[in-house]
Amino acid sequence: MKLLVTGGAGYIGSVVAAQLLEAGHEVTVLDDLSTGHEDAVPRGAAFAHGTIREAAAAVLEEHDIAAVLHFAASSLVGESVADPGKYWSNNLGGTLALLDAMRTAGTPRIVFSSTAAVYGEPERTPIEETDPTRPTSPYGASKVAVDTALTEFARLHGIGAVSLRYFNVAGAQRAADGRWLGERHSPETHLVPNVLAGAGSGEGVRIFGDDYPTPDGTCVRDYIHVTDLADAHLRALGACEPGQHRVYNLGNGAGFSVREVIEVCREVTGHDIPATVAPRRPGDPAVLVASAKRIQADLGWKASRDLRAMVADAWQFSQARR
Ligand code: UFG
Repeated sequence: MKLLVTGGAGYIGSVVAAQLLEAGHEVTVLDDLSTGHEDAVPRGAAFAHGTIREAAAAVLEEHDIAAVLHFAASSLVGESVADPGKYWSNNLGGTLALLDAMRTAGTPRIVFSSTAAVYGEPERTPIEETDPTRPTSPYGASKVAVDTALTEFARLHGIGAVSLRYFNVAGAQRAADGRWLGERHSPETHLVPNVLAGAGSGEGVRIFGDDYPTPDGTCVRDYIHVTDLADAHLRALGACEPGQHRVYNLGNGAGFSVREVIEVCREVTGHDIPATVAPRRPGDPAVLVASAKRIQADLGWKASRDLRAMVADAWQFSQARR
């Protein structure tokens, strides 16, 4: 298929683009490089520099695109609380512009990058797709709003859409050309890269809160390897059916605490990574664990890489960059 990957110079978008190329698809990456890196665009993909608002329509028309994988978004929970307008504009406004461009060009399918943040503070875990969406940040709210729009565009314009709600993505992937594709955010807020950055630097890592109602007092999350996550996108692409909008959680179904993650990082790196306890980070739910039963039943997808594999690959990536 001829595919458009928006945000394909970013962490997850670049790994998905690499897997799509390896599966034999023709890929165009559209990215404004506001947070992505041009050197992360996998070799073999065409690259268009621009925002989805300004550039998506032309790319869709010119390349006769069969499906869009839509990653381009602002994705920092804390920033979204400080600047909600940016999130509504980029995430909802940008996606609406993309959907309009798809309608005009007759592009029939979209796979949308969504998040566990749509659920907010869950009432129960593991979280199922039918559980209420009560986002606690403008970031999560903007992603819920896109889901509402996708349902309408499927019903009223006949597009086929799949939303994938990611839990905590970690790890890195080696592309066919030997380069490592991994997480390079600035600022970096995610746990695994922060812990690995603390390995060997002597600075260590801060644990945001150890007084949560969890077994060791630190937050529990469901970590998923970016390679497993990318595989789910390829399956979702095949599951876009005209007039339907499907929603799937993507996680391992197992929870690990912040302290457990740090311990795995120590084992994998061989470094004694110092950890100090800092105050809670506002808005962090105590436990987020996915039920991924629906995607397993419908698309036969199941995460196959464990936390150790995620940390080992993220470590390889960070070593390769050093
Ligand atoms: N943490 C630390 N120290 C750090 C970084 C993180 O203790 O240096 C803790 C956080 O407080 C949290 C856990 O590690 O308890 C995981 O934090 P991340 O920032 O790695 O991930 P989040 O769970 O906050 O974020 C994920 C997704 C977001 C999504 C959010 C929903 O990455 O896209 O869940 O809550 F919005």
